[in-house]
This record gives sequence, structure tokens and C-alpha cells, in this order.
Amino acid sequence: MNAFIQDLPKVELHLHIEGSLEPELLFKLAQRNGISLPYASPEALRTAYDFEDLQSFLDIYYQGANALITEQDFYDLTWAYLERCKADNVIHTEIFFDPQTHTERGIAFETVIKGIHRALQDGETTLNITSQIIMCFLRHLSEDSAIETLKQALPYKEFIVGVGLDSSEQGYPPEKFVRVFKMAKEHGFLTVAHAGEEGPAQNIVDAIELLGVSRVDHGVRCVESDELVARLIETKMPLTVCPLSNIKLCVFDDMSQHNIVSLLRKGVAVTINSDDPAYFGGYMTDNFKAVSEAHDMTHQELAQLTINAIDASFIDESTKREYRSRVIDYVARFS
Ligand code: HPA
Ligand code: ZN
Repeated sequence: MNAFIQDLPKVELHLHIEGSLEPELLFKLAQRNGISLPYASPEALRTAYDFEDLQSFLDIYYQGANALITEQDFYDLTWAYLERCKADNVIHTEIFFDPQTHTERGIAFETVIKGIHRALQDGETTLNITSQIIMCFLRHLSEDSAIETLKQALPYKEFIVGVGLDSSEQGYPPEKFVRVFKMAKEHGFLTVAHAGEEGPAQNIVDAIELLGVSRVDHGVRCVESDELVARLIETKMPLTVCPLSNIKLCVFDDMSQHNIVSLLRKGVAVTINSDDPAYFGGYMTDNFKAVSEAHDMTHQELAQLTINAIDASFIDESTKREYRSRVIDYVARFS
């Protein structure tokens, strides 16, 4: 099964680029930028990656992002992630970035977006990986700050396919961002939102109804409402599920308790994603393997996870058709 997973074509729809900053690169960037770190080595930093909930992770994740200063830093970060994509046969990726994490500490929006965009362009030409960028608003910051961030994004509109919502879910419900999401839609951006990771099923309903999202990020707490699960199936609403993240942040006790496979079998459009792979112990292949080891899955079910991600992606229909046939050919060749 692991050989099947290794070469299975994959599509990632939930990846925070700042969360792909490995300790080794973090140390290299800190040295390059003259920043001192409160850890002696990358190994010592890695041992601090022991989280009890979302907030305990976010505190360390925002601290790590402080090492990112120049356009080249954002390029190097994104390029390192793309090389991991290549190794995992990720053929398409839609990456999040958190502009406010950087603009709040004086880094220009332009510096961030240009570095990420240039690496993604190189990834397309030299690694044959297609991609999109989604910018996320930090839900613990104000609506005004989100609106200001949207304004900063407008000159780079052609680089950014959509807007999302991340950071602390508890206490910062979707309704706080209705206006800025409406403005984003008027400018032609698609919308997604983290909901139902740590927060209640109602946040998923509100992300759909109030923010008009095309996908729900995480969404695993949908199982608290049978009516909501039925609606997700009926409307084919995709969930970008992040299995290793959910274990690391104690959303589930262990992988055998995870509900992704039962949701898949019910007909919910679930997908597998890595979220913040440098912090949660694995990229796409690791996530697929962890789920398949804890749940007895068929080749067809594993391939369905990629098909769901292709269907849910923000790429054009002809590329979707080409990617679907790559997956179908792969399964046929393997069996
Ligand atoms: N949830 C919310 N915010 C985040 C996450 C997450 O899993 N990763 C990075 N920011
Ligand atoms: Zn996330």
C-alpha cells in the first residue's frame, strides 16, 4: 500500500506556506538576517513542537515566521516546499499565506507576494507543478485590518485566486468577516475558511451561509450535526482535512479515531492535506500513509481522495480532466 501511495498523483488544497518552514531553513534564514533564536539548534527547536491545542501551535508558528524578511526568504521557503511536493508526486497545490503576519512587523505585502509568486512560477516551469495562491485573514485581528489587507492585495490580484480565514477559531466566528468577504467577492476573489477544526459545527454552517465559501478548511466537527453532514453530501461541499495536524493539535486522540475515512464512505467530498508540515510531522505522502495505516483502505478509496481534491481545486476544467485521467491511469496500471 505504501508503494501505491508514494507515486499516487496528489493535489494539496490546505497548506500554510509559513507552516512549511523547516527548522534547518529557519536557522539558515535567522543567521542570514542577523536574528537570534532562543534555541541552540534545529533539533532543539524541533523538540519544542509538542502542542496541546491550536493556540499553543500558533504561538510557535508566528515566532518562526519572524525569520522571514526578504523577498528571497519567501522564495526559498516556497521553493523548499515545492521540492517536497515533487518528491511526493504532488501535481497541483493551492497555498495559503498570512500577509498580516508579515505586514504587522513591517514587511511589505509586495515583498511577500513577489517571493512566493516567483517560486511558484519556477515550480511550474521546472518541476511541472501547477499552483494557486490564497491569502488568509487572521481571525484574531480586526475587521479593519482585514479590509486594509484586502486593499494591499488589489495590485497583485492576478497572483491571488482567493481569500481565506485562519488563526484562532475559538471566539472569532465567521460572522466577524462577512463584510470583508463580500468586498473580496466583489473584486472577483473566491473564498474559503477554516471552520469546525476546534470550533463548533455552527462555524461550518456560517462559513457556508455567511461567507459563501467554495470549500471548508478542516470541517471535521461537521459530524456533530447529522443535518450538516447530509447537506455537505448533497451540495458536494469539499472539506480540506489535515489528518496529522488534527492529531498533533489534539483534535482527535489518535489516527484510528479520525473521521476522514467514515466521511469519505458516507460520500462527503473530503481531501487529504498537510496544513503545516514542518510542525506536524509530515507532508502529503506521510498524511496519506498515516490515514491508510490506521484505517483499512482500498486503492480506489485512496485515489478518490485525489479525485475529490481535483474536483475541489481552483483550476480550469481542461486541466482538471487531464489530472483526473492521470489518476485513473495510475490506478489501472497499478492493479
Ligand atoms: N488552523 C488555524 N490557523 C492556522 C492553522 C490551522 O490549522 N495553521 C496555520 N494557521
Ligand atoms: Zn490550516
